[in-house]
Amino acid sequence: MDVHSLEQAALAAVAAAASTDAIDAVRVEYLGRKSELKLALREVRDRETGMSLNAARMRIESAVDERASGLERAELDRRLIEERVDVTLPVGGHARGRLHLITQIRREVEDVFLGLGYRVVDGREVETTRYNFDALAFPPGHPARSPLQTLFVDDETVLRTETSPSQIRTMESREPPVYIVTLGRVYRRDTPDATHTPVFHQVEGLAVDEGITLADLEGTLDFLLKALFGQNRRTEFRTHYFPFTEPSIEAYVSCHVCDGGGCPVCRYSGWIEVGGAGMVDPQLFEFVGYDPERYSGFAFGWGLERIAMLRHEFPDLRELWRNDLRFSRQF
Ligand code: PHE
Repeated sequence: MDVHSLEQAALAAVAAAASTDAIDAVRVEYLGRKSELKLALREVRDRETGMSLNAARMRIESAVDERASGLERAELDRRLIEERVDVTLPVGGHARGRLHLITQIRREVEDVFLGLGYRVVDGREVETTRYNFDALAFPPGHPARSPLQTLFVDDETVLRTETSPSQIRTMESREPPVYIVTLGRVYRRDTPDATHTPVFHQVEGLAVDEGITLADLEGTLDFLLKALFGQNRRTEFRTHYFPFTEPSIEAYVSCHVCDGGGCPVCRYSGWIEVGGAGMVDPQLFEFVGYDPERYSGFAFGWGLERIAMLRHEFPDLRELWRNDLRFSRQF
């Protein structure tokens, strides 16, 4: 075997190898167990031939190693370029969820009252007729006591028709001073239409302390209405009737759309009716064991859907329950 021409052939093959696979094949062919060189080395008998074969093997080996690491680096470089991720490219839209409008309003109202030093308390949605009606001084025969208006679970249990029973539960469980709001679902046996849904949300507020007056109630509601409808709004309170407040009032806010000039939202009256309120009837204090000579209080209960509908000027309450993203995304 001609060592010199074998080495030349090997080095030429090394130079021609254009990929790591090709250089691996060259390594096998010229340095592998069955290569001409290895076979020759195994059969070598004299020192001279052995030395020259070994020297050739080492030169081929180092040429192969060098070429292999060059090719590896080049292939890595190419992959790094080809597979590069451009982190500055805009990413396809990942839709982010958002809070439902009612949840947003609920939190807004909670924030207003937390800022005024009130506590937010929980109520219960399944109530007894005693708390939903009797304790709130609904007379026997009041239409709300009828299964035509109220969803009964059994004779003595209803899905609460308003958040007002939580006034009673709150007063039973703590002594004055009481400054709380409670927000949650209420149920009425209404057929859904543009302004009614059988389930909706109310915020109930209750303040009981020494020396609470109607002026405190009106000042508090004025503050809330301005937070919800804008600082430039005017507020007005008109007499009304609820079994559990005396006197009872209904809160109005100057129309945020026409600012009182007259438009369809306020039905050309300039004013929008927001919800009920009043001074806690002393009968309720007797029911819960508060001294009516010492304490007075106010309460209010407003619908959150109504606030949402007025503020955002959509004509149909049922949109809030349809979960059509084209609607929900606007808020
Ligand atoms: N509970 C009454 C309603 O649902 C609202 C209200 C609450 C009125 C508290 C006065 C005081 O219409």
